[in-house]
Amino acid sequence: MCGIVGYIGTKQAAPIILDGLSKLEYRGYDSAGMAIYDGGKINITKSVGRLKVLENLTHGGETMPGICGIGHTRWATHGVPSDTNAHPHFNADETITVVHNGIIENYLHLRQMLSDKGYKFVSETDTEVLAHLLDYYYKGNPMEAVTKVLHRVEGSYALGILFADCPDQIFAARKDSPLVVGQNGDGCFIASDVPAILKYTRKVYYVDNQEVVRLRADHMHFYSVDEEEMTKEPVTIEWDANAAEKAGYEHFMLKEMYEQPKTVTDTLLPRIKGRDIVIEELNMSDEELNAINKIHIVACGSAYHAGVTGKYVIEGLARIPVEVDLASEFRYRNPILEEGAMVIVISQSGETADTLAALRESKARGFKVLGIVNVVGSSIAREADNVMYTWAGPEIAVATTKAYSAQLVALYLLAMKFGRARGKIDDKTFASLLGDLKRLPNQIEMLLNNKLKIQKFANRYIGAKDVFFIGRGIDYAISLEGSLKLKEISYIHSEAYAAGELKHGTISLIEEGTLVAAVSTQPDLYAKTISNMVEVKARGAFVLAVTCEENKEIEKAADYVIYIPETNPYFTNSLAIIPLQLFGYYVAVGKGCDVDKPRNLAKSVTVE
Ligand code: AGP
Repeated sequence: MCGIVGYIGTKQAAPIILDGLSKLEYRGYDSAGMAIYDGGKINITKSVGRLKVLENLTHGGETMPGICGIGHTRWATHGVPSDTNAHPHFNADETITVVHNGIIENYLHLRQMLSDKGYKFVSETDTEVLAHLLDYYYKGNPMEAVTKVLHRVEGSYALGILFADCPDQIFAARKDSPLVVGQNGDGCFIASDVPAILKYTRKVYYVDNQEVVRLRADHMHFYSVDEEEMTKEPVTIEWDANAAEKAGYEHFMLKEMYEQPKTVTDTLLPRIKGRDIVIEELNMSDEELNAINKIHIVACGSAYHAGVTGKYVIEGLARIPVEVDLASEFRYRNPILEEGAMVIVISQSGETADTLAALRESKARGFKVLGIVNVVGSSIAREADNVMYTWAGPEIAVATTKAYSAQLVALYLLAMKFGRARGKIDDKTFASLLGDLKRLPNQIEMLLNNKLKIQKFANRYIGAKDVFFIGRGIDYAISLEGSLKLKEISYIHSEAYAAGELKHGTISLIEEGTLVAAVSTQPDLYAKTISNMVEVKARGAFVLAVTCEENKEIEKAADYVIYIPETNPYFTNSLAIIPLQLFGYYVAVGKGCDVDKPRNLAKSVTVE
């Protein structure tokens, strides 16, 4: 996510802003910039690259004197990382400047409207629209301009705004993207997150949705978007600085697990238009979609596990044959790619060497590649023919959670888009699927709130030596990811097995007390999986079942049951994976493992 810091007071603003932005680096970014009012005009310095670049350019802020300013670290969404796309953004006569965290979903419409009125754009960002729209509405009253803009934009935002005409004020506003404000004896502060201002004050105000804040050197006022003044209660932060970077969570992994409802929402909503799914990034007409006669999904690790789910969902909903490959295998097995095939590569980092190589191999053979990628402007995002971004924001923990969840919903959307275009999904079914998709974020949140029950169960397995995850169909894909989550952060040996395959050898490893997690979310396979559970129980296993609320029958065969709320069977991975993520997390925490940075692992495997 982007980082915002602003200051107005009696001290020099630039050093305070640079210091604050450095506390937000954990959020991930690719460029940084500052706008400071020097007593006569607003000056902007911004650059692609690390914050150090900005610090060097401004000699630690010395080249930008002034006691009022805003700063930003950009996590690219619309527009690749570049000096021009970096924030802050100016209006044409450089009298209004803005920094933004979030996505303006109707920016194309607003950009067209403003262009038709003669406004010129210099960047590819959605944010620049805000600078020109503020200009359009500004007639001398900054609050009026701000609130008019907020009534026009759709999407998510945390904003810092500066008007050269009113240099004794900074404006801030929020909808869905986090924003806090604070005050001490030297001035007032805005920030995307507490760490940026914790050094200056522990008393902060969390800005709520559709609230506007006017900050002066010695006081702040809160308003609604309809300019009604309101009072807010401050919150005193008890965290230490290190904990604050994790917003109070013990680990980034837990924080990112709890970001999954928002991740799924951010990936879904921009692509659901009324009763239809619109995936502009596909750049394919229905005819072109219909011409696809095979899909190859290629990825590594958890992204591969998402791809395995994608196979079941796309084949089920769109009836297109799907082949899923580990990228490290695909690139060397001289794959057979035939006319009409489409390649989809999935990657959170967009830098995984094997996946990038698979992309290049496919393109070298003349096949179009769609990238499902999280990091905007990454190598895979740049080299794919088309990119479907997962708006998960930067993922810090090595073990992926929120990006994986976003990959799943991206694949659901694709499956529904393909199925609709090919006439395989009737209107009623499509509407039902859409309804189930929209319910996923709340259902994920519900499951996350179950964490204490999972933690208690996990504590029983801190000393485990072997844990098995079994399932059939999509449940097998869920098992793959559940097993990886456990072993990569707790270092406990774990295997995922197609439940029907266990008896062909691996069942010999089941001993008294061995934990077997049976995933059973596919109604047409409930009975089969119960049989497999009975098989392992007969050999002494302790069976944990993860299943749908309707499947009470399973209680006869399971020793411990975790239920997930009802959803379409194609979407159950998004729910069943939550307790399995929590299980792996709490086992690792119980073992005292370095959860966010597990041994031997890197967040992005950029080598073979
Ligand atoms: C998953 O928790 C691991 N971090 C790892 O398997 C990861 O999914 C894999 O390396 C692929 O990374 P990518 O999505 O960035 O390509």
